[in-house]
Amino acid sequence: MSNASERPAPPPDTGDGILIVEDDPHFSDLLAGFLSPKAGFGEIKRAKTLAQALEFLEAGGFALVFLDLHLRDSRGLDTLIAVQAKARDANVLVMTSVADEELGLQAMREGAHDYFMKGRIPPDGMRRMARYAIERRSAGLALKKSQAAMEIQLRHAQKMEAIGQLAAGIAHEINTPIQFIGDNCQFLGQGFTELIAFFEGFAAGRVPAPEDLQRRLEALDLDYLSLEIPKAIQQSLDGVARVSKIVSAMKDFSHPGNAIRQAVDLNKAIESTLTVSNNAWKYCAVLETHFATDLPLVPCFQGEFNQVILNLVVNAAHAIEESRSKRGEATPGRIVIRTQRIGDEVVVEVSDNGAGMPPDIQARIFDPFFTTKEVGKGTGQGLSIARAVMVDQHKGRISVQSRPGEGTTFTLGLPLHPVT
Ligand SMILES: Nc1ncnc2c1ncn2[C@@H]1O[C@H](COP(=O)(O)OP(=O)(O)O)[C@@H](O)[C@H]1O
Ligand SMILES: [Mg+2]
Repeated sequence: MSNASERPAPPPDTGDGILIVEDDPHFSDLLAGFLSPKAGFGEIKRAKTLAQALEFLEAGGFALVFLDLHLRDSRGLDTLIAVQAKARDANVLVMTSVADEELGLQAMREGAHDYFMKGRIPPDGMRRMARYAIERRSAGLALKKSQAAMEIQLRHAQKMEAIGQLAAGIAHEINTPIQFIGDNCQFLGQGFTELIAFFEGFAAGRVPAPEDLQRRLEALDLDYLSLEIPKAIQQSLDGVARVSKIVSAMKDFSHPGNAIRQAVDLNKAIESTLTVSNNAWKYCAVLETHFATDLPLVPCFQGEFNQVILNLVVNAAHAIEESRSKRGEATPGRIVIRTQRIGDEVVVEVSDNGAGMPPDIQARIFDPFFTTKEVGKGTGQGLSIARAVMVDQHKGRISVQSRPGEGTTFTLGLPLHPVT
């Protein structure tokens, strides 16, 4: 089960230890001698079995693992796969016997850093190989770090861009109720002035003559005022409620707590995102929501999740616009959002009856910067970010089903008990 302080990814293991996994004591001694701290290497640990090796790796702190694939408790590529699953950021160098070169090549294909045949490499060569492997690991770690930083920046940039695009729409959404609140206030002000003028006549105890009273009552048009004033008040209150709904949705949408997974009401998060993005879809589509009423709270990075929903809804609106312009249709399209709990997952579906996509496009949509849209409309980042948020960050999933000319459904799965 997740806790409130967990982070999206564990920090890299920058340890400089060396682990030798070898059941031949003679060769293990030899290797340990070559790579001694005196020669500038980190601390050496030695394991004879896979079980021991995994125990060491569990504790971490290794830059390199020298691995013999044939151990008492594990043989062949299975040994490599088990070690790699625990090796985190360490590079694995596979050692084979002379008769086993093919296995070394297979190990490389499985992601081993390098392989060599025992007894074939002199001490110097061995040290050089270890040093290169350590160098390349440092370079890899640095790259990973800058990639992670870049990914965060990109995600942030896309969010800012989306907010920028939404801003005009939101301004319009807020402007409309504000305008009629203004008109209503003006009308109420006039009505009030007229009423006060009428009653002022009575103030000094001057009761008007009956015909005069009749004339002034008619001028006041009390029937009209008693009908229109409550209406104007109610309309203004509705307008205020609308504006405050938009403002609170904006607050929800730009939710900053993105370093922390929190228990989130996804229905509410989606509702807020739809409110702020209203302008992006309402001119081309009718939007339906089918929210499960018994949805549990889901451990979620809310700001990022909101961004995923926004990206999907904007894409759906674009796909509908595209198909409508192709067919010259005037009827609005349809976007359907559904939430439900299925087993240990909360599933969110976003469907549209827009242009759809052929399989060759579907295969590329999650690639960074892949877009079929013209410059200014698409940057090709929406779905690659959605994938990173759903899969890497939430340990969930995202998939697509689409038919050209019929429409598209994106399915998101968020685990209720994410494994981290
Ligand atoms: N709902 C959809 N219907 C049809 N095509 C879609 C849909 N969503 C995404 N696509 C396709 O996937 C591409 C990549 O989407 P995305 O990563 O959001 O980038 P962008 O929207 O900026 O092009 C789009 O250019 C479009 O071709
Ligand atoms: Mg997009």
